[in-house]
Amino acid sequence: MAVPLLDLKAQHATIRDEVVASVLQVVDDQAFILGAPVAKLESAATPLSQVKHAIGCANGTDAILLAMRALDIGRGDEVITTPFTFFATAGTVHNVGATPVFVDIDPKTFNIRPDLAAAAVTARTKAVIPVDLFGQMAEIETIRRLMPSVPLIEDAAQSIGARRKIDGKWVMAGEAATIGTYSFFPSKNLGGYGDGGMMVTQDDALAKRLMRLRTHGSVQTYLHEEVGFNSRLDALQAAVLSAKLPHLAAWSAKRRENAAFYDAAFADLDVTTPYIDPANESIFNQYTLRLAKRDALKEHLKAKGIGHSVYYPLPLHLQPCFAYLGYKEGTCPESEKASREVISLPVFPELTGAQRDEVVAGVRSFFGK
Ligand SMILES: Cc1ncc(COP(=O)(O)O)c(C=O)c1O
Repeated sequence: MAVPLLDLKAQHATIRDEVVASVLQVVDDQAFILGAPVAKLESAATPLSQVKHAIGCANGTDAILLAMRALDIGRGDEVITTPFTFFATAGTVHNVGATPVFVDIDPKTFNIRPDLAAAAVTARTKAVIPVDLFGQMAEIETIRRLMPSVPLIEDAAQSIGARRKIDGKWVMAGEAATIGTYSFFPSKNLGGYGDGGMMVTQDDALAKRLMRLRTHGSVQTYLHEEVGFNSRLDALQAAVLSAKLPHLAAWSAKRRENAAFYDAAFADLDVTTPYIDPANESIFNQYTLRLAKRDALKEHLKAKGIGHSVYYPLPLHLQPCFAYLGYKEGTCPESEKASREVISLPVFPELTGAQRDEVVAGVRSFFGK
């Protein structure tokens, strides 16, 4: 039996009526740009993320880009981030005219190492962008403590609803950052039926600026206080996301359950199962194994029709487009090693027991079990 890496149709089947009703409302109202559907989603997102402000935008890439613009980051500035992430995290730094500064990851969590980030601070550093990779929050409080005067943009594209216990209190992904960013790309835990993104902040002035930046730098129609972007969250996407949001916690819990099942099923194999920092509750956007014989396992799973993917096969400091930065192989050894060893398996909430067993059997058979 083939098992897909992700089955969006299976999820849609469970919520079709709610989503269709929500979308039809927008169609009947014929008001497609921002307006009530986006405001409704933003109001629902603020308690979820324990933030004062949530501002929808066109996608998770723009969310990072607008965050940097709101912090006046541009030419001549440096932004510290991880090379083991989706391209958007650093592509946006380049696109605001700043220089990405890559520092290595913790090999257990795959998240940026706070000490290395702090060591990379210079007079030109204008922000640090930790990524909450695969659904697990970065060490936000350590980064804050080591770099107290550096604005923190938390790329929580993969981690909406994840949380971390800091000083005995649960802190949500995005909550403690200067600006937190989410993606509603369809494969995310909260995925739209197209592109979408969001920025969250506790800061009133930054929220105002972000709202202005998403609509061409204008608050009052045809009066532009600065040059912004066209980065509005589509009302139809907001309607889909509002229908899906009440299910997010249960979906993420189901992903954790699937992850725990795999952990137990792979315990006797020569493979590293995901390490979740005891302070974290992951939402398992990905369930990622690591092993030296990754490429062979990949071929094995492919032959068996078991969905898998490698996130990410080439770390960003070695991407051809960043050759101008001068990074050489060996500069971020843990990111490079992770790129050679990781493989993600199907962990989506609608995975059936039979599908889960098939994934387990497929992986175990690779080890001759
Ligand atoms: C870590 C990370 N950052 C940024 C993004 C960009 O989000 P989007 O695809 O919505 O632009 C993504 C997802 O695609 C991501 O995984």
